[in-house]
Amino acid sequence: MTVNCHVTRRHASGRKHVCLRRLPYKLNDCAAFQVPYLIQHTLKPTKHQEDIVQKMTTNTGHVAPPGSAWDQMALHMERMTQTVSVAPANELVIKLNSLLSFGQSSAILDTGCGGGLVTSRLLAIYGPNLPTPTPRILACDFSDGMIQQVQKRGQKETANGNPFWSAVETEKHDAQDLHGIQDGSFSHAMGGLVFFMLPDPQKALSETKRVLKEGGVIGLSSWKTSQWIDLMYGVSKESDDAMKATLTTSWSSTEGVVNQLEVAGFRDIQAVEVDTSMPYDSHEEFCNFLLTQLPHMKKITSTWPEEKLRRAEQDTVARMKMMSPKAPGNLSGTAVVAVGRK
Ligand SMILES: C[S@@+](CC[C@H](N)C(=O)[O-])C[C@H]1O[C@@H](n2cnc3c(N)ncnc32)[C@H](O)[C@@H]1O
Repeated sequence: MTVNCHVTRRHASGRKHVCLRRLPYKLNDCAAFQVPYLIQHTLKPTKHQEDIVQKMTTNTGHVAPPGSAWDQMALHMERMTQTVSVAPANELVIKLNSLLSFGQSSAILDTGCGGGLVTSRLLAIYGPNLPTPTPRILACDFSDGMIQQVQKRGQKETANGNPFWSAVETEKHDAQDLHGIQDGSFSHAMGGLVFFMLPDPQKALSETKRVLKEGGVIGLSSWKTSQWIDLMYGVSKESDDAMKATLTTSWSSTEGVVNQLEVAGFRDIQAVEVDTSMPYDSHEEFCNFLLTQLPHMKKITSTWPEEKLRRAEQDTVARMKMMSPKAPGNLSGTAVVAVGRK
């Protein structure tokens, strides 16, 4: 089976080429590994931030509520959004606008909103083009910590005189279950670097489609490849756990992402590859973050004895120094950004 798709490859410097291709589609295109959320160049949290995390983290022996593993990441989100995720987020809103102008929007959904990066890029680029009064913009995430970041951002922006952020509302939702949101209530839906990491991405796509109007548009992004994913892959291969959280390649290629949208029943699909980079200060700090902070890696390494974790960190640092010897420096990655219409 094949699908029609516009494929564009874009570098930070500009567009390289656009073409209409018929791409092969294999339904069970599973194999390689993609660990997603790998994202971030981190700073050590301050004592105040640690206190907040302590309050947010369930440490009573109860099962942590869904989303709580991401709460601590919320503290890193602002730094992250200034770096690695900005280029894909810009491209996402630009491509979405070209499919259906935000000037014609009636309501906009940002699902798996994190710290609100995609919403912030939408408002920065297209805020002045939005209809008056500003349509409802709903930012959703399953992590309380992320929702709080968006709320704080909204308060700050509004206090600084930004006229658009007062239209941003927040709600806690699992992207795979948007119950409480009416069918056909949004003209635009955005999902930056989230669908590919969900247990059931098709369910999330189908829920997003349900809440879109006929003719409404979806824009999403995923990681195709990156040096930080390669670093994590190396750790998982060496681990006894064999990285149970291994993901499928169905989201780590342009073809795969296009296929996901096709299967969910979207049309007019276009996809673009966006190169980006992840800055780091020191190899050691970055590898420690990678192995012990990112929710999926943490799930694996938190059960390891101290010695095993120390060895894995040393190995990862050595591999990273071969990849990118300088510190501070940058790791490179490529995201896939795709849009489609209901
Ligand atoms: C890599 S971050 C991306 C955040 C933001 N969209 C961006 O582009 O910067 C992934 C986000 O997805 C959220 N997330 C993960 N699983 C989710 C789920 N099942 N439902 C809703 N949000 C989820 C996480 O809490 C996190 O905020």
